[in-house]
Amino acid sequence: MNVVPPRPHAHVFTPRQALSGRAPLYFVSGIGFYYVAIYGYWLYQLSTEPGHPPSVDGSDGSSPDPDTSDRYNDLAQSFDNEVDTTETLSGIDAVRKRLVNQATGHVLETSVGTGRNAKYYNLRACKSITFLDQSGPMLEIARQKWKELHPKLPTETKIAFRQQAALELADAPEEGYDTIIQTMGVCSTPVPMDTLRHLGGLLNPRTGRLLLIEHGRAYYDWINFILDRSARGHGEKYGCYHNRDIGEIVKQSGLVVQRMERPHWWNLGTVWLVEARPNGWKEPQAHVGRAQARRLV
Ligand SMILES: C[S@@+](CC[C@H](N)C(=O)[O-])C[C@H]1O[C@@H](n2cnc3c(N)ncnc32)[C@H](O)[C@@H]1O
Repeated sequence: MNVVPPRPHAHVFTPRQALSGRAPLYFVSGIGFYYVAIYGYWLYQLSTEPGHPPSVDGSDGSSPDPDTSDRYNDLAQSFDNEVDTTETLSGIDAVRKRLVNQATGHVLETSVGTGRNAKYYNLRACKSITFLDQSGPMLEIARQKWKELHPKLPTETKIAFRQQAALELADAPEEGYDTIIQTMGVCSTPVPMDTLRHLGGLLNPRTGRLLLIEHGRAYYDWINFILDRSARGHGEKYGCYHNRDIGEIVKQSGLVVQRMERPHWWNLGTVWLVEARPNGWKEPQAHVGRAQARRLV
């Protein structure tokens, strides 16, 4: 005779117990749903906005913002806090380090802002560094930061801070600047193409290099759609027009582009890294192989 083993008592959950076991799942899904709804609503609102054209140069009237200084004057105190996290996550900090470390000779940094590149200079390689920005409060923070970071400068390195618009800068060292650096400047300059062309004219015509990290248009249409629709509002608030086509601006400025990259795939092409030479620059024949082999980033 077969003996059927007694069935273990199946545990029957009350509805309350069943719910409480899944509570974390419901909680996380609820939050997820909330953010998706907010994001969807934001996209819907954006889609009803007129697109802001990705002006190549503000001189076509599409950038009705001849001077963004008022925004940066107001933002100066909070600027670093506002961008710190995004920059760390996007990897821009690491790109800054690698680029700024290349500066040599007589150096100009335009649109210096609060001096976010200050810690990355190789001072032994720099004869002079001029920091320029048209916003007094931003420049003042850069000056304070520099003092704290470099209390003991190599005596041979001359440092200057100038409150001025880049287009107004007329003087340069006798042979021109060896390196001009600009990071995140094209987005907030009213006439970026003219400004880059002007900076190219301040470089040493044989050896000078313009090094840029900029942000602007992405690889993908759906992101550019968002950038175009949000550009006006963002620009009016932050003085930053984030939908500009950096590649086109640089090319049309007449600079000789030696390197153009969009570092870190997760930025989806919005971050641009450029190394350029002055208009009319020709690669010295003897250095062709070496220059091509050199990698910046
Ligand atoms: C987005 S912030 C970038 C600051 C800094 N370079 C960085 O990487 O964080 C832009 C800065 O460019 C300055 N700026 C904008 N247009 C300028 C111009 N035409 N000449 C000089 N500075 C300018 C603004 O005052 C502001 O400090």
